[in-house]
Amino acid sequence: MKTFLRILIPALFIFNLTALNAEDGYRLWLRYDLVDNPVVLGQYRKAVTGYMTDGNSATATAVKNELQMALKGLLGSQVPLVTEVRKGTLVAGTPESSKLIASLKLGERLGRLGNEGYLITNSKYKGKKIIVIAANTDIGVLYGTFHFIRLMQTQQGIDNLSVSSSPGTRVRILNHWDMLPVPGGRSAGNTIWKWDDLPGKLDPRYTDYARANASIGINATVLTNVNADSRLLTVEYMEKVAALAGVLRPYGVKVYLAAKVTAPMEIGKLNTADPLDKDVIAWWKKAADELYKYIPDFGGFVVKANSEGQPGPLDYNRTHADGANLLADAVAPHGGIVMWRAFVYDNKVPEDRIKQPYNEFIPFDGKFRKNVILQVKNGPLDFQPREPFHPLFGAMPKTPLMPEFQIMQEYFGFTTHLVFLAPSYEECLKSDTYCKGQGSLVAKIIDGTLTDYELTGMAGVSNIGADRNWTGHLFGQSNWYAFGRLAWDPYISSSEIADEWVRMTFSNKDEILKPVSRFMVESREISVNYMTPLGLHHIMAAASHYGPGPWVDKDPRNPREDWTSLYYHRADGNGIGFDRTTTGSNAVGQYFPPVRDIYNNIATCPENLLLWFHRVSWDHKMKSGRTLWDELCYKYNDGVNQIREVQQVWDRLKPLLDAERYENVRERLVKQVRDARIWKDGCIVYFQTHSKKPIPPGVEKPEHDLEWYKTHRYTDIPGMFGTP
Ligand code: GCU
Repeated sequence: MKTFLRILIPALFIFNLTALNAEDGYRLWLRYDLVDNPVVLGQYRKAVTGYMTDGNSATATAVKNELQMALKGLLGSQVPLVTEVRKGTLVAGTPESSKLIASLKLGERLGRLGNEGYLITNSKYKGKKIIVIAANTDIGVLYGTFHFIRLMQTQQGIDNLSVSSSPGTRVRILNHWDMLPVPGGRSAGNTIWKWDDLPGKLDPRYTDYARANASIGINATVLTNVNADSRLLTVEYMEKVAALAGVLRPYGVKVYLAAKVTAPMEIGKLNTADPLDKDVIAWWKKAADELYKYIPDFGGFVVKANSEGQPGPLDYNRTHADGANLLADAVAPHGGIVMWRAFVYDNKVPEDRIKQPYNEFIPFDGKFRKNVILQVKNGPLDFQPREPFHPLFGAMPKTPLMPEFQIMQEYFGFTTHLVFLAPSYEECLKSDTYCKGQGSLVAKIIDGTLTDYELTGMAGVSNIGADRNWTGHLFGQSNWYAFGRLAWDPYISSSEIADEWVRMTFSNKDEILKPVSRFMVESREISVNYMTPLGLHHIMAAASHYGPGPWVDKDPRNPREDWTSLYYHRADGNGIGFDRTTTGSNAVGQYFPPVRDIYNNIATCPENLLLWFHRVSWDHKMKSGRTLWDELCYKYNDGVNQIREVQQVWDRLKPLLDAERYENVRERLVKQVRDARIWKDGCIVYFQTHSKKPIPPGVEKPEHDLEWYKTHRYTDIPGMFGTP
């Protein structure tokens, strides 16, 4: 027996160590490895000699566990949980839970920070130097704890701390777009929710999911696709959802559901879903009451209605306000909210598709209940690599709006392309709408600075899936991270976010940090270059949304004109682009002056949105002095060369990186470079059939003829959906 144990114990030890050091990406940015700078490590060991947490809630326990894990990992040995203050004690708590924190009289400073904010500061207690993480609630303490850990992970000084932080938006929510329960949603691998195992069996992953979200301030999640499934509102599923909510709750993550307008018919056996019908009203009220029995802190509903075949109030000659208010009234007594999506466009109307959400919702400004918020995509079309900001921002002063960003890269190469999306979130948030004169940034509208919005929020369509590393592409993690950071603080810059993420995920060492954060920040523009430069949009392969498809004249799923590429690029022998000026579709008219005038005038319209707003002759002179045709070719060419450079940079980093994560990215970059070339070549040879102009010198010659690109099929792109 003894011999057996002697063999077993070291074996277990080794196994554990390997598991700890396995760099498979599972740990995300919460890696907590030993601080690798000896000077900084020495300072940290001196500054934090013990930690003290009080409170018995599950959240307070989460704080304790996180500190224990992080300090042990970062400082290299167990840091004791102490009950008496000594020099270097880290004290985390609320004035209620901790006598010590109460004695520091932080009331006034904490008063300004609300339910989720926190302070991190150095202080003295009975002559001993301590570090304090204080908040009004346990969840605030948890957020502060993660912030403090991040400071150490990124090797910042902790001797002169004066952090006070509170979130810019209230509902910071992920939208999972996985179907229920059909596997193979639109994220990395299958959905992470193991519906068949719930409610009885809880995957430990759910806790790590909650931790990761809490670490960046995400406080809400919609578990399934906006193309909703009524079954979620049956008791069977309520039990499952309640079990998940139980795991997420200590980390401050509330559960929300996607609601289907026709649920009263599908599972309630009513013969209508008319929002003004009294039986329908009663049905929703009862469904909500039932839900709250299972999940007392249920967040509310997100609804996609009258959009892409989803049922909605318009089917009953009612309005979006009627539909939203019905659900809002059902959840209001319980404190719930409704996020009503503005992503709507008519099945028949020939109006420029991008104008439809604005036209549809503007008349209802102020007509929604207080607990309704409109969820508006960053741009007026559909998560294209580049879109102008959505004209609804700033145009509905009496109705709260929250932006919806894509984290999942539906039009950005799914889990195969390296695209750091923070620059596109930032571009939207920093756009000046001029709704209240210069400086009326989207960020200031949605966070309530310039509006009276009581309800504020930010939604991100999640890329999280069952893959071991959560997001398939390791850099997909950075988009989840960036979304959370910006939902908390809509004003931080992409480069700050990239810097933090690289430090925590890879290394604080300049030789890794600098090149990686640099190519991350550039990567979105690079992809725009090889996919849709100069304001082109919606020219990807039909259905799969992967690879070029400027020739698409019919979508196999639906032959509607606005699901084709031709509708959007309108190329012919004279030129290319969608005329949305005052003499065209007048989409520019939906923006406030002077934005509308800037977009309307070909001389002032930013060139990166030129073909979005203008129809331009092939010979049009660009700012570079080149013709539009030449510029287009060069942009495509640049995109390919730039992503090749990223690949070279990554390859050079090989000796400095762990093999597994290096390989995850290397292998994908090979495909990205290959498919960027296909994008470039496919688009150039196709547009050339219209421009009839030679490919300018210096642009790499296309490899194949048009037919090849039209018939090419992608067979090795995980996450891609539909037919290729
Ligand atoms: C896109 C996407 C759909 C999605 C829709 C939406 O069109 O392809 O699958 O449901 O956006 O935002 O609702």
